[in-house]
Amino acid sequence: MRHFDFKNGELHAEDVALSRIVAEVGTPVYVYSSATFEHHYRVFAESFSGIDALVAYSVKANSNIAVLATLAKLGAGADVVSGGELARALIAGIPGDRIVFSGVGKTRAEMADALDAGIKVFNVESLPELRALNEVALEKGLIAPISFRVNPDVTAGGHEKISTGAKENKFGIAWSSAEDAYAEAARLPGIRVVGVDVHIGSQIDDLAPFEAAIRKVASLIGRLRAAGHKIHAFDIGGGLGIPYGDNSRTPPPPSEYGALVKRLTSDLDVQMIFEPGRVIAGNSGVLLTEVLYVKEGEDRAFLIIDAAMNDLLRPALYDAFHDIEPVRAPGPDFQSTTYDIVGPICETGDTFAKGREMPTVASGDLLAIHSTGAYGAVQSSQYNTRPLVPEVMVRGEAYRVIRERPTIADILKTERLPDW
Ligand code: LLP
Repeated sequence: MRHFDFKNGELHAEDVALSRIVAEVGTPVYVYSSATFEHHYRVFAESFSGIDALVAYSVKANSNIAVLATLAKLGAGADVVSGGELARALIAGIPGDRIVFSGVGKTRAEMADALDAGIKVFNVESLPELRALNEVALEKGLIAPISFRVNPDVTAGGHEKISTGAKENKFGIAWSSAEDAYAEAARLPGIRVVGVDVHIGSQIDDLAPFEAAIRKVASLIGRLRAAGHKIHAFDIGGGLGIPYGDNSRTPPPPSEYGALVKRLTSDLDVQMIFEPGRVIAGNSGVLLTEVLYVKEGEDRAFLIIDAAMNDLLRPALYDAFHDIEPVRAPGPDFQSTTYDIVGPICETGDTFAKGREMPTVASGDLLAIHSTGAYGAVQSSQYNTRPLVPEVMVRGEAYRVIRERPTIADILKTERLPDW
């Protein structure tokens, strides 16, 4: 469910007309609905009621501190992958003991900060990382709680660039070496083993790969316990997909995922940890953009909009589909046109949709690019010296700018002319 609906002929976020936000903030602009974030978090968390579960929202999906604070109030933990994300989670009020630290290349400085914050667990991905963490912990006179991220060799996910659980991917400890890795961890004085971690991919639209991964990890937990390791936690990562409004398969709802997890893990006697990102944030945001020009090409019409691939990278990077519609509802006898919807950047890949039929629009009209709450603003850049897109959070009839649009002067502030 998302709180982006037409009222009085105009698309709203909750009770705020999107054109009202554009009048003040301009375009392009990301607009988020706090009620949608809250609803998605609650639906996800309630799917695991009755079992010991920690929902550690994957900060990478949308890391604005206002988003994190919204989820923190509901009791969310956080899955972070850098010192920067750790700082955001702490500032937003997520307690250290609800933070898990993932990622294949944690630096020693990041490890030290996470130890200082008293995080719940490091998801360790290699033996060299384990040894470095042991040294950092010993220097501080602390013991680092760890799970190994194991690679279950399960293929899943919507696109090869976001599939992570197959053995050719860079992630995790190879399945065949997992038990040796735990044996080494048990010998290190700065390390305490607490669990097992997997993450098999993103935009997964089918429960079968989750089932395969859970069964494999459950048997590994049995073998690890037989070898004397105390396994308290099973982190199953993120990955549950969302509907994007195209013809691809609709992912199962969190309730079905929850039922599967409960059925397969009821005998394991572990705390389950989840790292959902997209399923919480994806449909909680839209990117608003203005039509700059309608250009009649030789064999097609181009809609040139003021958002570009630097603002929303997903279509260029993954050929991702995003539903795009006018903010003003078309009249009853509206005309349709088939457009290629493109941004102003000097690259052919700066294309949001090809051959997309939609109500005919004109220069100056506003469009909403849907399902851009996850992996939207966080993946933006200033390519072509385009200022980062501002972010706005709506709550009922109110809205707040939660990230300002930088000026060109802001962008240039950190650059220097050398003095030679
Ligand atoms: N945990 C780990 C260790 C991850 O690597 C990820 C995502 C998540 C959790 C959250 O996964 P989610 O629930 O959001 O699927 N930029 C891509 C998605 C990359 C996902 C990377 N890892 C996109 O725009 O589709």
